[in-house]
This record gives sequence, structure tokens and C-alpha cells, in this order.
Amino acid sequence: MTSVSDSISEIEAPALKELDAASDADQLEAWRLSYLGRKGRLTHVLRRLAELPLDERRNLGAEANRVKLRLEAAYDQHRGRLEQARLAQVIEGARQDVTLPGPPLPHGRLHPISQTLSDVLRAFENMGFQVAEGPEIEWDYYNFEALRIPADHPARDMWDTLWIDYERDGRRPMLLRTHTSPNQIRIMEHTQPPIRVVVPGKCYRFEATDPTHEWMMTQVEGLAVDDGISMADLKGTLAEFARRIFGEDRKVAFRCDYFPFVEPGMELRIDCFICRGEGCRTCGRTGWIEILGAGMVHPEIIANAGYDPDRYTGFAFGLGIERIALLRHGVDDIRHFYANDLRFLQQF
Ligand code: DAH
Repeated sequence: MTSVSDSISEIEAPALKELDAASDADQLEAWRLSYLGRKGRLTHVLRRLAELPLDERRNLGAEANRVKLRLEAAYDQHRGRLEQARLAQVIEGARQDVTLPGPPLPHGRLHPISQTLSDVLRAFENMGFQVAEGPEIEWDYYNFEALRIPADHPARDMWDTLWIDYERDGRRPMLLRTHTSPNQIRIMEHTQPPIRVVVPGKCYRFEATDPTHEWMMTQVEGLAVDDGISMADLKGTLAEFARRIFGEDRKVAFRCDYFPFVEPGMELRIDCFICRGEGCRTCGRTGWIEILGAGMVHPEIIANAGYDPDRYTGFAFGLGIERIALLRHGVDDIRHFYANDLRFLQQF
């Protein structure tokens, strides 16, 4: 059996060497158990000290204690080093390169109806029109009465109406405006000629939907009143508008139509964007597509506004933005515009 003194001196150097080689927490713990643990080698030697005579025990005891403290200190130090290395690795792994480009954000865009609306408004603004707005909830008076469509007039059938509080408690009937034409009256009430204005806005109809009809749609009303405005001004303005929106080479045609608030009334058609006038399904084999209603402001409306009907004349028109957007983009169903399907909307 090796002497206690030999054992002590043989432990220190290999222990320190082994400790240096421990590269993770498990190896470190194994080292601790094998030297400093209850059954460890140093503990074993210390226990054997008790069997020695007193003077030997004193010397060797001091030496053994020194080795013990030395190993414990080395152990603490090495454990600190390993812990630091582990932390450094965690930090390195979590490091972000802030100079890398970020993930691309999807671009927002204007709804196709908003795009067409702003193009239409810009076309009229460039021709000298101002832009105004009016309420979506409207009095029967502005939507019908003042436009020469009294309560029992058959022309009311042209606009299937969503009523609000209809004739309840003797109150004046209100409705969701069926067109933007009430703004003609509203503007004339507080403006003196010359007037050149366009009024965009949502309109509502109590109607079943189909590929060319929605219960909500966007119109732009136009109104010009001045000394000596003629049908030629109306035709020239609308033909120029059609060229600006649909292109230089489009053909336009005017046809008689009836609206109670104009005399004469007419509709504007452009040559079909699909068959270019030859006749196809989209244009109902006529070669033409109707894009708006128009006419010369009825003299009675001019007089009701307080203008001198012998001096002032005017023209008015109303166009549907959805219809124009359908034609411009070749869309086959108006309901796509309000179905909120991103696959459709992202194409614009
Ligand atoms: N307000 C009509 C409609 O919604 C369109 C219209 C026709 C407007 C002739 C006008 C006009 O200003 O003169 O059907």
C-alpha cells in the first residue's frame, strides 16, 4: 500500500491536468466526484490520515489541506471559465446582423374603383371643373322632388329606392340617395353662375345584383351653368372626357334618352372595347356601350334656382365609375369590385 505522503503528492499534478481537460459541465462534475466527492481520491487520503501517529498527521495534514484548497480553488476557477464560454456561445447564437435587409413588406394600393374615380376627377379638373361633395342620406326633396320627379311620377320606377323613415310621423321622407343628381340642386341653391362642378359619391339602389348591377355604386355628377351654354358644349366636354379616359381613337355617339331633370336628355355611348364596333356579347351586338346619361338642365330647374332662365342655360351629366372601371380593365362582373377577394384586387 502506498504511503499517505506518496498519495498526496501523486494526486495534485494529474488532478490539475485532468481538470484542464474537462470541457463541459458533465466532465467537470465527474472530475469533482472523482477527487473531492465523498468517495473521491483526496477524501480517501484525508480519511487515512486519522490512522497516522500525531506528528506525521500534523505535517501531512497541513499538506493535504493545501492540496485540497488548491483543487477546490482550481475547480471554482475552471467552472467559472466553462460558464463564461457557455454564455458567450448563447450570446453568439442570438446575435442578429442588423445590416441584413428585412423581409419585404407587401405594398398597399388603391382600390380599382378609387383609381378610376381619381382619373375621372382629374380629367374633369383639367377641363376646369371643381370638385364638390354631398350627403349619402338624402331628403326625398333633393333626390326626386326638386329634380322634377314628384311622388307619383312614373319615372320614380327608374330608381328602386332604399327609404329611411318613409312618411312616418308626418316627417319628411329620407332615403339613401339613388344617384348624385341631388347635388345639382344643392349646388345651385348656394352658388351663382358660372358653375362648373363635378360631384363624386356612393349611391344605393334596392336591386338584385347581377354582373352589371350592384346595390351600391359610385357616380360622378357633372353640372355647368352659364350665360349661353349650349348642347355643343355638352357634346364637346363629354367627347373630350371619353378621349382622356379611354384613349384618342375611341368613337363616341350621342342618343336621345329621357331624364325628368334635363331637356333634351341623352346618353353617351362609346364603341365597344372588345369588338370595336362590330357587335359582340358584351355590347349586346350593338357595337356600342352606354357610359353615362346627360342633357341640358331643364329650364324649370334653372328658374327654381333663382337664375334668369332667359339668360342662363346649363348641362348636366351622371356617370357610373364601376361601369367605366369594367370597361377599362375588361372585368366581366361588377360584383368582383366589392367581394374583397385579394386575388382580384392585387391585379390593379
Ligand atoms: N342621375 C341619373 C341616373 O342615375 C344619371 C343622369 C342622367 C344624370 C342625366 C344627369 C343627367 O345629370 O343629366 O341614372
